[in-house]
Amino acid sequence: MFEGGHRLLFLGGLLLWLCMASPATSELQRLQHRAKPDGTLSFLVVGDWGREGNYNQSEVASQMGVIGEKVDIDFVISTGDNFYEDGLTGVDDPAFSKSFADIYTAPSLQKPWYNVLGNHDYRGDVEAQLSPVLKEKDSRWVCFRSFVLDAEIVEFFFVDTTPFVDKYFTDPGEHKYDWKGVEPREEYLSNLLKDVDSALKDSSAKWKIVVGHHTIKSAGHHGVTVELVELLLPILQANDVDLYVNGHDHCLEHITSTDSEIQFITSGGGSKAWRGDIKSWKPEEMKFYYDGQGFLSMNMTGDRADLILYDVFGQVLHKWFISKQLHDTA
Ligand SMILES: *[C@@H]1O[C@H](CO)[C@@H](O)[C@H](O)[C@H]1NC(C)=O
Ligand SMILES: *[C@@H]1O[C@H](CO)[C@@H](O)[C@H](O)[C@H]1NC(C)=O
Repeated sequence: MFEGGHRLLFLGGLLLWLCMASPATSELQRLQHRAKPDGTLSFLVVGDWGREGNYNQSEVASQMGVIGEKVDIDFVISTGDNFYEDGLTGVDDPAFSKSFADIYTAPSLQKPWYNVLGNHDYRGDVEAQLSPVLKEKDSRWVCFRSFVLDAEIVEFFFVDTTPFVDKYFTDPGEHKYDWKGVEPREEYLSNLLKDVDSALKDSSAKWKIVVGHHTIKSAGHHGVTVELVELLLPILQANDVDLYVNGHDHCLEHITSTDSEIQFITSGGGSKAWRGDIKSWKPEEMKFYYDGQGFLSMNMTGDRADLILYDVFGQVLHKWFISKQLHDTA
């Protein structure tokens, strides 16, 4: 009797709380990953990779293993386009093993992989990539459309960027996209933008890093994603985001902003690269561009983040740091 009454009271309270809190509170799924006991955190970022080891995917993977051990990573972030050409056909698609489980085999890479989806993933069965069945096949796999990862000193905001891009809807060509769970599109996008904005506003983490598949600033083959510049960038600027990290262009890039503190990193060198077409960019913003394969490592404390871009041989291509105390970089 008491138990039941207690429960009802609790439910009533929860409902009341939900009603009052929901307009201002983000609906995004929240995950936690503790920083190391000394308060530091390190991880790798790779994108545009799943090609059954081809196009140097295996070479990049083995160097990720070496560097992952050296910087003692806590996890790996994937910026999407996890499985080429057309995502997964279902939870039993052998591509999951051939392009992921059997490729990233180094001991240092046996950590959680936090994945977003790319446009190629949307050409397959999206729900398969989001399914807990994949986690049973390989416990590293963590994939949601959009979510927040709280890692104490830093909060990551993973944003599902594919539904923003008009041409996938208006001019899909021969490609079929799996928009189940996205349509009606307008509602999906406006809820997502609201959720990202309120999650950023609620965050008290020292660092805020936004991860998406599509570019905001890029001099690569695809260049800027105008829909994100219009809709997402103002939210990042209004909420003191430190970094926006993406894939989509198959290259490595570091671009700063003349009008804000946000730095833009493309880590899309997980496999096929060498597109050869590079657009011009304001020299005062373009810090580094590499057309080939590779990946990013980040090693951070509450006040300082050290970033390194590596090539397919694990050679350092570009390194810099961001300091919270002195403001800015090498
Ligand atoms: C693999 O990497 C090497 C070194 O960067 C490069 O010369 C070669 O073209 C790459 N292979 C492919 C298929 O991209
Ligand atoms: C992280 O960066 C600091 C500062 O550059 C460096 O001294 C340290 O060795 C790095 N740690 C790892 C694990 O790479």
